[in-house]
Amino acid sequence: MNKDSSNKLNSQSDRQTNNIGNNSLKDTCTAPRNNKNDGPSTMVTPWNVEGQVDYDRLIKEFGTQPINSEIMELFKKLTGEVHPLLKLHYFFSHRDLDFILHKIENGEKFYLYTGRGPSGMVHMGHLMPWMFTKYLQDKFGSKLLFQITDDEKFLSSPDRTSEEIKRYTYENILDIISIGFDPSNTKIIVDTIHIKHLYPIALEIAKRITFSTSKAVFGFSGSTNIGMIGFPPIQAAPCFIPSIIEGRPTPVLIPAAIDQDPYWRITRDVAERMGYYKPAQIHSKFLPSLNATGGKMSSSKPETAVFTTDEPEVIEKKVLGAYTGGQATVALQRLYGGNALGCPVFWYLRYFFDDQKESDERFVRCISGDLLCGECKNDLAEESKSFITSLKRRREKAKDSIQEYMYENEPLEF
Ligand code: TYM
Repeated sequence: MNKDSSNKLNSQSDRQTNNIGNNSLKDTCTAPRNNKNDGPSTMVTPWNVEGQVDYDRLIKEFGTQPINSEIMELFKKLTGEVHPLLKLHYFFSHRDLDFILHKIENGEKFYLYTGRGPSGMVHMGHLMPWMFTKYLQDKFGSKLLFQITDDEKFLSSPDRTSEEIKRYTYENILDIISIGFDPSNTKIIVDTIHIKHLYPIALEIAKRITFSTSKAVFGFSGSTNIGMIGFPPIQAAPCFIPSIIEGRPTPVLIPAAIDQDPYWRITRDVAERMGYYKPAQIHSKFLPSLNATGGKMSSSKPETAVFTTDEPEVIEKKVLGAYTGGQATVALQRLYGGNALGCPVFWYLRYFFDDQKESDERFVRCISGDLLCGECKNDLAEESKSFITSLKRRREKAKDSIQEYMYENEPLEF
């Protein structure tokens, strides 16, 4: 950041506090603090994220660890760099990531494991953990298991039909392949197709988890259907498949947004009793909803997200119509500056497209009133359109390589 803008930034400090200079700009668009007296105004479960998420509070409530400078130093030692999504604290929390990094230091192999619940088309938020997973796969040459929980998404909504889920499974697999995972090191597991590989492990897990634990972790109630109550061990099972494949306890690292953490809590509870390592996690924040101050991009709310299949005109319409942190009029914006920290467009650009210098400059220009929302929206619309256009080309090509990615090469047939 140049000297000028840094001075300008300091002069704005009475309006918006920030730590932009030491890389810890707080994501208050999706992570504003809840008023202590209010109690939680948010809900973060694997099936729903509502309201404004306080990520520091989630670390405390979920009992995870923040990604601190020691972790970043370890990454730097191993890869020679710190990935921007770590530097920007988009990946902000973990469980046992240090354990995995020490294993790597000692030359030991680990598996990556991540997934998708095919409840709709894929949006740009979903791509974030997957792109980071690919980065880790490229850096460390790891094998990757990619689970598609078609069963979970059938069970979790009363209205979704199995026909819809099959279509989304196929469409979502194209997105997954288009990320560019190494085909020789990546296997996609579709629950209803590969259930015979999951079920024996899931049974061992299920036997060790009581209903009262599951109720406390997932919030199940008397009105939850019994399919959902029985589902979590199926998502836990891939954590132990690597140990079975390798014939010895094998470390696993799961990159995902923090909403999936409840699954890993129950898995970690049973892992050592079953003779496996506890699976490690690296948790991301959520790419925010485009049309609100809180919540995440969501497949089931199309107006909140840019989808990988959206046409350029649709992307433009969504982005130009997005909620921003701008003032009501240009004159007020010039006078008071915008609220960059409360603006989904700012965060979306920062995490996805701007480099840190550009983003820091955008921040300063916004809060000082130099920058109007139209410019940011245009930047985001242009970047998103060109990103989605090239992704669509890779999606087309992916149609020819589905078989290659399927677990045990079992065909994608329902
Ligand atoms: P699903 O399909 O809800 O989400 C897929 C992945 O995307 C993350 N995610 C987001 N990340 C950033 N911004 C958002 N707005 C956003 N919305 C979702 C999720 O955390 C997830 O990493 N049950 C899982 C499927 C699954 C899985 C796994 C996920 C099975 N095994 C292992 C992660 C790791 C699901 O429905 O994800």
